[in-house]
Amino acid sequence: MCGIVGYVGARSAQDVVIEGLRRMEYRGYDSAGIALVADGTLAVDKRAGKLANLEKAIDERALPASTIGIGHTRWATHGAPTDVNAHPHLGSHGRLAVVHNGIIENFAALRDRIEDEGITVVSETDTEIAAHLLELQLESGEDLTTAMQRVCSRLEGAFTLVAVDAQDPDRVVAARRNSPLVVGLGEGENFLGSDVAAFIEHTREALELGQDQVVTITREGVEVTGFDGSPAEGKQYHVDWDLSAAEKDGHDWFMRKEIFEQPRAVADSLLGRMGADGLLQLDEVRLSDDELRDIDKIIIIACGTSFYAGMVAKYAIEHWCRIPVEVELASEFRYRDPILNYSTLVVAISQSGETADTLQAIRHARVQKSKVLAICNTNGSTIPRESDAVIYTHAGPEIGVASTKGFLTQLVACYLLALYLAQVKGTRYGDEIHQIVRQLEAMPAHIQDVLDRADEVYALAREYVDATSVLFLGRHAGYPVALEGALKLKELAYLHAEGFAAGELKHGPIALVDEGLPVLCVVPSRGRDQLHDKMVSGIQEVRARGARTLCLAEVGDTAIEPYADVLFRLPKVPTLLQPLVATVPLQLFACELATAKGHDVDQPRNLAKSVTVE
Ligand code: M6R
Repeated sequence: MCGIVGYVGARSAQDVVIEGLRRMEYRGYDSAGIALVADGTLAVDKRAGKLANLEKAIDERALPASTIGIGHTRWATHGAPTDVNAHPHLGSHGRLAVVHNGIIENFAALRDRIEDEGITVVSETDTEIAAHLLELQLESGEDLTTAMQRVCSRLEGAFTLVAVDAQDPDRVVAARRNSPLVVGLGEGENFLGSDVAAFIEHTREALELGQDQVVTITREGVEVTGFDGSPAEGKQYHVDWDLSAAEKDGHDWFMRKEIFEQPRAVADSLLGRMGADGLLQLDEVRLSDDELRDIDKIIIIACGTSFYAGMVAKYAIEHWCRIPVEVELASEFRYRDPILNYSTLVVAISQSGETADTLQAIRHARVQKSKVLAICNTNGSTIPRESDAVIYTHAGPEIGVASTKGFLTQLVACYLLALYLAQVKGTRYGDEIHQIVRQLEAMPAHIQDVLDRADEVYALAREYVDATSVLFLGRHAGYPVALEGALKLKELAYLHAEGFAAGELKHGPIALVDEGLPVLCVVPSRGRDQLHDKMVSGIQEVRARGARTLCLAEVGDTAIEPYADVLFRLPKVPTLLQPLVATVPLQLFACELATAKGHDVDQPRNLAKSVTVE
């Protein structure tokens, strides 16, 4: 949700913090703020709106030189995005500054106690309560580390807190519970960030923290404890991507850059999956083959785009492994009392690995004794850490709020999972598995072929800059693609867009069809003739009612020609793998349409990249 940065070292803390916030801004961009420790006081500035507003304010009124500081970019939960509610928040004597990601659930009770002590709370945030509590501890004579331990023990909810004390120019102290925080390890300097992008230009050595831990960074080192003060240890790791991966590389948007990275991302996702023994292998498996053979039901849980990847996975797993699969929104999962046991495999799909709805769902599953396998793009994030097995998607950092390469690589991971289960359970012969892996290995070239014709899609998208509604139709594995196409358009172009299973149209949604309504149709490959023909019938039905049909169909599909007002050709691939190519034009369409409308494609209104609150 929010992005957090902390620094202590020898460089200008202002530069390090602002640069870190720039890379964290995708996490939230309602307001931004900074606090530096200089000459025994705190220098603070914070502004509603994007980081640019804060930078402008600092340009006009310079902050003092400092080598220690914290910063924050916010996605509002408590209180509107105003200057007052922006972080950092200060204690009432201006000694302590804190930034926060998450929600402090018992803040109302804590606020009453603070007000009873005569302290005036000036913002509407839960964070300010933590600031007052921390400052009270400091004023009772404790150092910032001890103050943080004490205060965190009293907080309920999910939070990352990062704080500085005006009277202690040598340490930044942070804490986490169910909210992301990583440490960047430097020479004579150390960093804190919501993710490694915050400090990737300075160091690629990072330290992963556990739950309920407090970390103190100084110029000399890093110390980790539990909330109770007991010594603890983080897990050090090397980040396998660098600064260039976090830059736009000449594109106008991160999203566009990430769309064009997909051939490489999909290829990377497939790398090293086949062992010397000719068998598929996953990244981390803490499950035996026997345990996997006992699996008799799979439940896939995820949110948003990741949920649509899960829908595609259902088709692949059921077809290749003959195991029943349910796909469920993570936010609904634990509230319906799902039937789970040791022979249920729960698959959690999450690009960020920090989505609170998904995290809570896997925790519920584990309490019910189910095994959990994560499909995730973010090394060291919470969801894979709390899972029994992991397939990393290896897409590299995804900065655009709208998921693109994250989705395609999730699809690859889902196919690999299905094939891995087929291998372990023996539901497919080895040569069949190898053949599908070879088809997957051909996908980067097919995706590149679609990208090479991006201009066709751009021209089409610009025609619809004044559209008020767009429908998307698909069937089978094309149905989740239709849903994903609609989601992309909603979140980026802010227009009414809906995806439907084409067969459902006649049961109601066809009433939406009006003269000139654009309907994007994902036509299945012809190998499944019945499916293909039924889709063509659906397209005829909407066209007969005045819709303008914009069809994605494979090369050589002539049956669609009479019914397509616009035809974009897809490479010829198996139906089950078609989402890997059919999604790409829909991503390009949404990106270009939103650009033509003058929207901020990387930071759409009201959204945040990583949703760490339920
Ligand atoms: O990080 P996750 O994959 O768990 O995120 C899930 C959704 O929040 C995410 O896919 C969201 O729907 C994207 N903005 C879609 O583009």
